[in-house]
This record gives sequence, C-alpha cells and structure tokens, in this order.
Amino acid sequence: MKVLFAASEAVPFAKTGGLADVIGSLPKELAKQGLDVRVILPKYEDIPAQWTERMETVAVLTVRMGWRQQYCGILKLEHEGIPFYFVDNEYYFRRKGCYGYGDDAERFAFYCLAVMDAMQHIDFIPDVIHCHDWQAGMIPVLYRAHFSYQPRYAHIKTVMTVHNLKYQGVFGKEQFKDYFALGDEHFTGYALEQYGGASFMKGGLLYSDYITTVSPSYADEIQTPFYGEYLDSLLRSQSFRLKGIVNGIDYDELDPMTDPHLEVHYRDSVEDKRKNKLKLQERLGLPVREDVPMIALVTRLVEQKGLSLIDRVIEELMQLNAQWVVLGTGEQRYEQMFRWAAERYPDKMAACITFDEGLARQIYAGSDLFLMPSQFEPCGIGQLIAMRYLSVPLVRETGGLKDTVQPYNEFTGEGTGFSFAHYNAHDMLYTVQRAVSYYNQEEVWTNLLNNIKEKDFSWHRSAQLYAELYEQLAQG
Ligand code: GLC
Repeated sequence: MKVLFAASEAVPFAKTGGLADVIGSLPKELAKQGLDVRVILPKYEDIPAQWTERMETVAVLTVRMGWRQQYCGILKLEHEGIPFYFVDNEYYFRRKGCYGYGDDAERFAFYCLAVMDAMQHIDFIPDVIHCHDWQAGMIPVLYRAHFSYQPRYAHIKTVMTVHNLKYQGVFGKEQFKDYFALGDEHFTGYALEQYGGASFMKGGLLYSDYITTVSPSYADEIQTPFYGEYLDSLLRSQSFRLKGIVNGIDYDELDPMTDPHLEVHYRDSVEDKRKNKLKLQERLGLPVREDVPMIALVTRLVEQKGLSLIDRVIEELMQLNAQWVVLGTGEQRYEQMFRWAAERYPDKMAACITFDEGLARQIYAGSDLFLMPSQFEPCGIGQLIAMRYLSVPLVRETGGLKDTVQPYNEFTGEGTGFSFAHYNAHDMLYTVQRAVSYYNQEEVWTNLLNNIKEKDFSWHRSAQLYAELYEQLAQG
C-alpha cells in the first residue's frame, strides 16, 4: 500500500497548529505497520537550516497554472524513516510563516498542481493520496478533472481529512478558473461554489473518495448547523462516506520517562511527577507548594479555545485555592487578559505569552490539571499529552475532547478527567471548583491518575483504522 500525504505543515519542519503534529507522527506509525508512506509539503523559508541543508533536489519541473509556467523544484529528505518531499518555488514560499498572504489562493493552487505533477517525476504513483485541510483540498478536484483518465493514475483513490472545518480556503471563482483550468460545470450547484466564491475545502469534500475527520464526535457535529460552517447539509448528504478517527500522539517523542526537557523523569510515580511541579513553581516565580493544585493552559490564545469563558469568570477563578500557568500567544485581548491577571494575582497566575516547547513540556509534567474549555475542538492534542504526563484534563464536552476524556464519576470511581457540556462560564467555573476540591482527597486523585495510566493514546489503533480504510478504498 503506497500512500502520499499532502499537507501544508509537519513537525519538525513547519508548524502553526495540531495539523503539524499529526503529519509529523501518523506516517511513522503507518510505516511501522508496513505501509509505504511519503509526505509532500511546501518548502517554506522558515524550515530550519538543519533540515534544508540535508535536502537534495530530486526533480525539476514546470507547473502550468493557466497561462503561467512556473518553476517547481522537488527536494527530498528522509526523516525518521519517512521520505519527505518539498515543493520549491521561491516566489510563492520563500516568505515568513505559512499562511496569511493576499495571494494564498495562488500559492496553494500552485502547491496542489505541483503535487499532482510531481508524482511521475519522483516515480511514486500512490494507491491513495491523503489530503489534509483546505490547502490540499483541490487535489481531489484536479485528480477527477485532469488525471483520472490517464492509465497510470486511474487506480488512485483520494481521502480528504478535515482537521478544522472553520478554515475553508474560499476565494473568487475567477481565480479558480484561472489557476486550475476548470470549466463552468465545476462551479455551480453541487460543486465548488461557496459564499459566492469557491472553496478549496468544499472541493476536497465533494471530489474525494472518502472524508475523514479527527474524532467521531466532530464527524457528527459537523453535520449540524452549529458546527457545520455552512457545509453541514453537504456533509449530511455524504455521511455514508464520512467518519471520524481520533488522533493519537507520538509516544516515543512525548514520554515523561525520557523527555529531555524534564529535570526529573517519571512514568507512573506521582511522587516524581510532583518534583517537576516544585521546579516549575520555582521557575515561574509562584509560591512553591505541593498542596495547591496547579492548573495549566497551553494553547493558541484564540476564540476557539474557549477563552471568553475564562474572561467572564476570571475574578472567581483567581479566588480559588489554585495556581495557574498559561503558555501561548494569539489574540491581543486574551494575551492582555492573562497579563493583567498575572500582575494582579502574582501568587496565583503565571502568564507566559510566548511559545517554548521546553517550557510546554515542563508545564505538562508540573501541572495537576489541564484546562481546555473549547467552543469546538475537532480532536485536540493538549489533553492527550496532558494525560500522558499525568495531568488531569478538564474539558468541554465537544469533538475529540468528548471522545478522549471520560468524566469522573465519584460513585463508581471511573473516569479520567472532568468535563462540562454547555458553553457556559459558570458551568466551567463549577467544574473547576469541583476538580480543585478533589485535589486534596487523596483517594479520588489516585483513582483518577490510575484510570489515566490505563489509557493508550498512541497512534497504534487509529493508524490501523486508516490502513483499513485505505485497503477498503483500494479494493472498491
Ligand atoms: C486542528 C484542530 C485540533 C486538532 C488538530 C489536528 O488544529 O483544531 O482540534 O487536534 O487540527 O487534527
């Protein structure tokens, strides 16, 4: 089984969000299970030199984009056993960051066209092209419109995975016609048209052979108007070829027993974990106290993550007998909110408005509770890492948070965390209060941690589900 992953980010090359973690780790597990998986990404300027220095050019081609003829280099680098290819065109990709430019439509149109053309030049014609999020969404469209007729491509199947339906890649129709050489029939009615323009994401959903998303609950939610981002009726009509497969995390990379960022290593010992807490309190300038629970947020500071709930009850939260640590950057209003809280309550709140992988790991290891009150969450990775590091998740019951955190039941002693259903600040506050009050009930806390230790959030099972899906498509 040969699979080509097309995506716009992957750890350790380029990352803006959880997508990069998935693309950096799922292929390794699929390869372990015997599949030939390769990944193709844009070659951004920010990819660290330690990687670019090791890349070699394996093909040079000319990509036709309507009337344009664009240079395209394909570079290759093998990383942890996985071949990674990089689409090189300095005009489009030699810029800071990944997205947010006025010509993103053209940049990712070029990327999708380049992926299709590259396959024959790198001599890798896959059985399945697995496309991730809108940036790769036009690949299934190009396949149907221009490639499926050619004998050497005829067997290819395409899978579209939605990591976040909110970002759809909607641009003017004229641009699509221009870049992709598509006729009018692709635009009206049951086609690419969206909000008066046209959409990369919708193209991927409609023209792929199968749609997946990153948790079963999110697969259900996006079929409703509230989460469906105006594509819910389309998704309902396609539900027979839509399913959710929950993300895993890289268990080798994320392991408190070997994590190079931790001073004290541990796996099951709560005592050793607590030593990390004391170091963290010291590093953050908080009172060094074992008996006070430490609540962490490690996240992009954006609306999706439920920060407006925190804003609504921040005073009440700061009155609790708990310490807080926040790590992340994002919207200014939320950065300000946490800075303000840290200034006003220096003994309770440490606000680290930055991103720092080492500190992130120390926070996972040092915290007792990990808060994710998201408005919506396709899968969520923070809660999985938190559990691997024995920090108890406290989440809103949505998407992957609902599928991976089982609420604690004080009567049966079952459960791996705390959760609340409605997007409501006082429901969250009440749940935080409840968790804090359990922290000093040793029996409850031990129970919770024991339940967490029994869970497996590695890629093993989910990679099997992807492999089964590829098989099923290849046979069908
Ligand atoms: C997006 C989603 C997040 C998910 C990640 C990886 O970032 O917002 O919930 O975990 O993609 O699939």
